[in-house]
Amino acid sequence: MEKRLKEIRNKINLEVKIVKKIKDIEKIKNECLGRKGELTLLLRKLGSLSKEDRPKIGKLLHQYKKEIEELIQKKTIEIVRSEKEKRIKSESIDISLLGKRMDRGTIHPIQLILKEIEEVFLGLGFKIEEGPEVELDYYNFEALNIPKDHPARDDQDSFFINNDILLRTHTSPVEIRVMEKQKPPIRIIATGKCYRRDSTDSTHSPMFHQIEGLAVDENITFGDLKGVLTVFTHRIFGKDRKIRFRPGFFPFTEPSAEVDVSCLLCKGRGCQSCGYTGWLEIMGAGMTDPAVFKKVGYDSEKYSGFAFGMGVERIAMLKYGINDIRLFFENDLRFLKQF
Ligand code: DAH
Repeated sequence: MEKRLKEIRNKINLEVKIVKKIKDIEKIKNECLGRKGELTLLLRKLGSLSKEDRPKIGKLLHQYKKEIEELIQKKTIEIVRSEKEKRIKSESIDISLLGKRMDRGTIHPIQLILKEIEEVFLGLGFKIEEGPEVELDYYNFEALNIPKDHPARDDQDSFFINNDILLRTHTSPVEIRVMEKQKPPIRIIATGKCYRRDSTDSTHSPMFHQIEGLAVDENITFGDLKGVLTVFTHRIFGKDRKIRFRPGFFPFTEPSAEVDVSCLLCKGRGCQSCGYTGWLEIMGAGMTDPAVFKKVGYDSEKYSGFAFGMGVERIAMLKYGINDIRLFFENDLRFLKQF
C-alpha cells in the first residue's frame, strides 16, 4: 500500500507539472481526491489494515493528501494568473496606433439642387406635387397629346412593363394627374425620377431627375412664363445670366420653346463648352395646348396655362461645372464631398 501511495504521489506531481488548463487540473483533482478518486478509495480501505500498519499508512496518507491538495491549489492559482495575464495582453489597446477614419456621407448634389430649385418656386407661390414613377401610357403620352403612332414617342425610348404601363419618361404626366383632380388656378411643380432607354454616356443616363412646372388660370400669358423662368435663372445661376427662348416643338404645348441660359464660362461670347454659340439649353417650355385641356375637361376658351420641364442633372452640371453625368450615380465620396 505504501508503494501504491508513492506511485500516486509521483504520478500527480508529474501531471500537475505539465498541465496548462483549469479544466485539466480539475480533472486531475477529481481523479485523485474526488468521491471515487484513487486516494479517497485508499483512505476508505484504511480500516481493513492491520493494527501495526494502520497508524503509519494513515499518517502517510493524510500527509500525501495534504501535499497533493496544496500542489493542486498552487497550480490552480498559477494557471488563473497566467490566463488573466494572457487575456489582458490580448485585450490591451496600443493608444499610439492611428485610428480608422470613418468616411461620412453628404447630401447628394442632386438633392441639394432639387431643394434649391424647390425653394425658388415655393417662393413664387408654387406648390409641390408628386406622381408615380411607374405610369400609365395614358398619362405619360396619350393625355399629353402624344398618341400611339406619334413620332415624339421615338425621342423618349421607354421601358414598357406591358402595353399600357411604363416607367415614366418625363414628369409631364403629373400635370395631367393634377389637372384631373383640381380646378384652376393651379401653380405646381413636380420633381422626381424619370427613365429612358438611352445608352449611358457623359450626358445620358437611363435614370435621371426632372422638374416640371405648370400654371393654369384665366389670362396666363407667355409673359408670365418668361417672368417666372427669368427669376428662376437669376436665383439658380446668378443675376448676370441672361435667358432666351427659341421656337421649339412639344405636342403638349403651343407655342413651344427651348429655353437657353447664357454661357457661364464665356459670358455669352462663345467658347468650346457652349459650342461657340454663347448659350446653353436648360429646358423645354410653352403654353399648354388646348388639346391637353380638353383631355382634363378644362375650358380652353376660359383658361390658359404655361408649363416647363428641365433635367435636374443638367442644371447641376451647368451650375457646378460637372462634365460627366455618370459622376452623380457612382457614389464616389471624393466627388460627393465637394458639395
Ligand atoms: N417633358 C419634356 C421632356 O421631357 C420637357 C418639357 C417640355 C416639359 C415642354 C414641359 C414643357 O412641361 O412645356 O422632354
